Amino acid sequence: MSIEAEEVVLHRAQPHKDMYCRTLKRGLSLQCRFQHSLPKPALKTMQAWQTFQYGGTDKLQLNEMAEIPTVKNTCTDMLVKVHASSVNPLDVRMLEGYGAKTFNCVRQLNKCSLNADEFPLVLGRDFSGTVAYVGKGVKNYKCGDEIWGALSPWQSGSHSEYVLGSICYSSKKPSSISHSEAASIPYAGLTAWAGLSTFGELSEKNAYGKRVLVIGASGGVGTFAIQLLKAWGAEVTAICATDAVEMIQNLGAENVLDYKCPEFKYNLKELKGFDLIFDNVGGEYHDLTINLLKSWRNCKYITVVSPLLKNADDKGVLFGTALSVVQAGLDTAMSLKDGKSLRWAYFIPNGCALKTIARMVDNKQIIPVVEKVYKFEEMPQAYERVLNGHARGKTVVDHTNEEIENKHKEECVKV
Ligand SMILES: NC(=O)c1ccc[n+]([C@@H]2O[C@H](COP(=O)([O-])OP(=O)(O)OC[C@H]3O[C@@H](n4cnc5c(N)ncnc54)[C@H](OP(=O)(O)O)[C@@H]3O)[C@@H](O)[C@H]2O)c1
Repeated sequence: MSIEAEEVVLHRAQPHKDMYCRTLKRGLSLQCRFQHSLPKPALKTMQAWQTFQYGGTDKLQLNEMAEIPTVKNTCTDMLVKVHASSVNPLDVRMLEGYGAKTFNCVRQLNKCSLNADEFPLVLGRDFSGTVAYVGKGVKNYKCGDEIWGALSPWQSGSHSEYVLGSICYSSKKPSSISHSEAASIPYAGLTAWAGLSTFGELSEKNAYGKRVLVIGASGGVGTFAIQLLKAWGAEVTAICATDAVEMIQNLGAENVLDYKCPEFKYNLKELKGFDLIFDNVGGEYHDLTINLLKSWRNCKYITVVSPLLKNADDKGVLFGTALSVVQAGLDTAMSLKDGKSLRWAYFIPNGCALKTIARMVDNKQIIPVVEKVYKFEEMPQAYERVLNGHARGKTVVDHTNEEIENKHKEECVKV
């Protein structure tokens, strides 16, 4: 990408602190000399894919006049110009209303108000972009820095031109890959990180030689999990469909099982002695594989597919969560009888882990697995792609758009 700079005055936030920005072609970077003046940005509106009611991909609307998020916590927040994002299965399901009761409840708690806005809803969990503004108290980041991050499901998402970043859930982006490649990693990567490290208690210090079974290896979370485990020295067996076997072998799995093969269940039973099973599919896999874990060795069955949000959607947050606690307790009790543990795992926003992952990417221990890159204006097609399933890595959206950049440049010059 060429870094041909053209200098424009973006805005004057306070009379004594001119914000002097350099807009780089194709939205590459914004570099501000005085980044601590809190905006009132000159630009108040942006393009964002929004939904005003739950439903299919036809409910996604491109709003050209969406409000740019404002930096609230000046010690942690940054405004980020998004260069690329990805579409996760969660986005597609949230569009249909999945998790709405729980996420609304969290929004209300965060806002300490029953009137926390549900709509317009902006989806998108991952972002890779450049810092456009930083809060006064933010250390270690300045305007123009290239960062990446992953947002919690109740936060306003990244399928927009700007997103609210935070030092808590962002880090500097790996410098060796493009924004589109980078956007494929944070949400799926941090889910795998949470599953294997936080809930599974594996790390680079203790994973060497551990035998791990990855179920649903060919998707966003699975492809990342295999690479993380290999970088930590674990021995990986993976389960995927026939056409994904070669890709999964290339990512480093020692042993790949094709679940489409007629002998699959027989072949599965032949395997034994896993220290950890990481399940990205759910359903009958628990019953099929729980006996493959070693007994009485603190071995864990970690699943990222749990009924928590569905229970809350169906029964309400209170009763649904209570039901989930009972279900989780029963599942755990059943597995404890053989000295194993079953854990439901969830994405956790984690800036520190992202920093480590960025280093691993730059060291080529982890490569982005991108299936297809869509343009920003093709967002509904990107959702359709994810909706159709059978992912082979990640579906990414490239937000860089010369037309929008030029329009903004004109607006900036006028200020
Ligand atoms: N708990 C959390 O916080 C959290 C966070 C992120 C994701 N998730 C959930 O975790 C799951 C995985 O996420 P993801 O982003 O990796 O999804 P994804 O990109 O859609 O990948 C799912 C993969 O599983 C494969 N698959 C489907 N059925 C399979 C089977 N029977 N055996 C083996 N592989 C199978 C799919 O390919 P084929 O169908 O072609 O085999 C696809 O490659 C999703 O259900 C997602 O909602 C949970």
